[in-house]
Amino acid sequence: MRSASRRQPGTAAAPVILAGLLVAGGCQGPGAGTPIPEAESAEGAAFRNQCSRCHALPHPERHTYDQWRHYLELMDQRREERGMKALTGTDRERVVTYLRKHAKNGED
Ligand code: HEC
Repeated sequence: MRSASRRQPGTAAAPVILAGLLVAGGCQGPGAGTPIPEAESAEGAAFRNQCSRCHALPHPERHTYDQWRHYLELMDQRREERGMKALTGTDRERVVTYLRKHAKNGED
């Protein structure tokens, strides 16, 4: 019997090359990953500012508006844990408006 296990085509290098391509190709637009809609509007700017401080900016189409409202409550808790005030005022309004408009299955 001949050993088949000696023939291993160069699969090990493929993931490395792929990762390199993703990194090089993935950085158009503000923040990493898929560009968000209307990033330059006041609402888009508030969303980018407020929601990329502790983690990468989530894409608005990742969740429905109802889910986003739930996450906003959750993020207020995360902010408090870090000694930050809850998100209020114009910033919160803009973020809410932005997510209502651009969420998955957007209402409106
Ligand atoms: C004070 C830091 C902080 C800020 C500011 C913040 N987050 Fe988060 N966020 C976290 C932490 C920590 C987690 C991971 C733990 C968890 O799920 O609670 C998280 C998780 C999430 C998740 C769930 C995990 C995922 O990847 O799907 C979503 C969605 C999210 N954040 C959205 C937002 C949005 C929208 C904003 C802007 C309003 C925001 N975050 C601002 C700290 C923050």
